[in-house]
Amino acid sequence: METLAVDWNMFFPLILNTVMSLIGFVVTLRLLPMSFELFLKAGLSGRDMSKNTPPSGQKVLVPESLGVIAGAIFLIIMFFFIPVPFWRSWSENSYEDFPHHRFVEFIAALLSICCMIFLGFADDVLNLRWRHKLQLPTMATLPLLMVYFVNYGSTTIMVPKPLDQVFGHDLNLGLLYYVYMGMLAVFCTNAINILSGINGLEAGQSLIIGISIIIFNLIQLTGNLPETSLFSLYFMIPYCAVCAAILYYNWYPSRLFVGDTFCYFSGMTFAVVGILGHFSKTMLLFFIPQVINFVYSVPQLFHIIPCPRHRLPKFNPETDKVGMSYTKFKTKDVNIIGKLILKIFGALRLIEIREGLGEDGEYTECNNFTIINFVLKLVGPTHEARLTSYMLIIQVLGSIVAFTIRYQLARVFYDVVE
Ligand code: UD1
Ligand code: MG
Repeated sequence: METLAVDWNMFFPLILNTVMSLIGFVVTLRLLPMSFELFLKAGLSGRDMSKNTPPSGQKVLVPESLGVIAGAIFLIIMFFFIPVPFWRSWSENSYEDFPHHRFVEFIAALLSICCMIFLGFADDVLNLRWRHKLQLPTMATLPLLMVYFVNYGSTTIMVPKPLDQVFGHDLNLGLLYYVYMGMLAVFCTNAINILSGINGLEAGQSLIIGISIIIFNLIQLTGNLPETSLFSLYFMIPYCAVCAAILYYNWYPSRLFVGDTFCYFSGMTFAVVGILGHFSKTMLLFFIPQVINFVYSVPQLFHIIPCPRHRLPKFNPETDKVGMSYTKFKTKDVNIIGKLILKIFGALRLIEIREGLGEDGEYTECNNFTIINFVLKLVGPTHEARLTSYMLIIQVLGSIVAFTIRYQLARVFYDVVE
């Protein structure tokens, strides 16, 4: 009887959350097309670079930043949901038993996501510079970090077995843990934003990461800390619902662009559940393609190699396919480190490079350092929708690898599986 009661307390909020998410999915699906005109009129639009140019001579204009609608519906679902997980403790009328810590964390998480949507939208409207892209997520994590601090959130981590001789079984990171949390938010938001540029990729990768987290949380529900998994599920189910709705319109041929708002919203939601659900390392494992893309992009992100405003694949109107995109620069403009990187990457066949171009042979050209281009290097020019599918298959494979590492290799590094 007792277990049955416990299970019901666990599943009732979850079922209600799922029902609310389904309603949110339908509402988002209906609201998005109704907003297209509004966004176009407000100038929130972008040109789809990988489509044929109509006779008017300009690329098709697509409403952009629609992530703000998905984000808003997500917030509304969550606002209605606030009382649900706490309803029982509250109805039992015992102030001492009320899980204040959990409640405050829940609100702080929403506040951080809300801030991120607002700042992301500001970025879309104001077209902020690259350095702001690092500052915005840092600012948006502040509510979470401050509440975590006041709430005496644990800053202790388990030390992997090979290192426990040096650091002991667990280690209190103190302030460093806060730096880690801030950096996690900056990474998650930007990593999704820079793996983009083809229809359906931003929303598609986010949906796969979201579903992977849901599967992981469901497995963990049977473990010894079901509350933290439940906490994450309350966020991830509505997130996946609105994400699926936006993907429906973002899939090839895109009727909307999700905008940086959506990338920030997604990254922040993942970071928040990873931190408060105490599974940030596992969460990062679901970002394997994004981590590889980030590491590969570093030479361009830090301007060691010139980085054009857009690194998306190049569209060929004759074949209706996209191919690798290149950046061309004067060879002497690249410093010694840049030259070394070009040599190493070239020797490892990570990039395609052509030297001695131009009349005087003073130009060099290489492909942009993104894994989208790398996939195109392997498969050759491809139709855009097919390329998105390839990228999403890689994302799914990444999740399979992540689960294998989490449940097999983790035993090598840790005694207890959380
Ligand atoms: C990031 C990338 C940039 C890439 C861009 C595309 C880095 C450092 N920055 O910049 O290289 O070109 O995302 O999303 O890696 N677009 C399409 N088709 C799509 C999606 C986007 O043509 O399926 C174009 C549209 O013109 C759209 C624009 O990309 O307006 C959006 O770019 P934006 O999100 O502003 O670029 P960043 O996030 O700054
Ligand atoms: Mg973007």
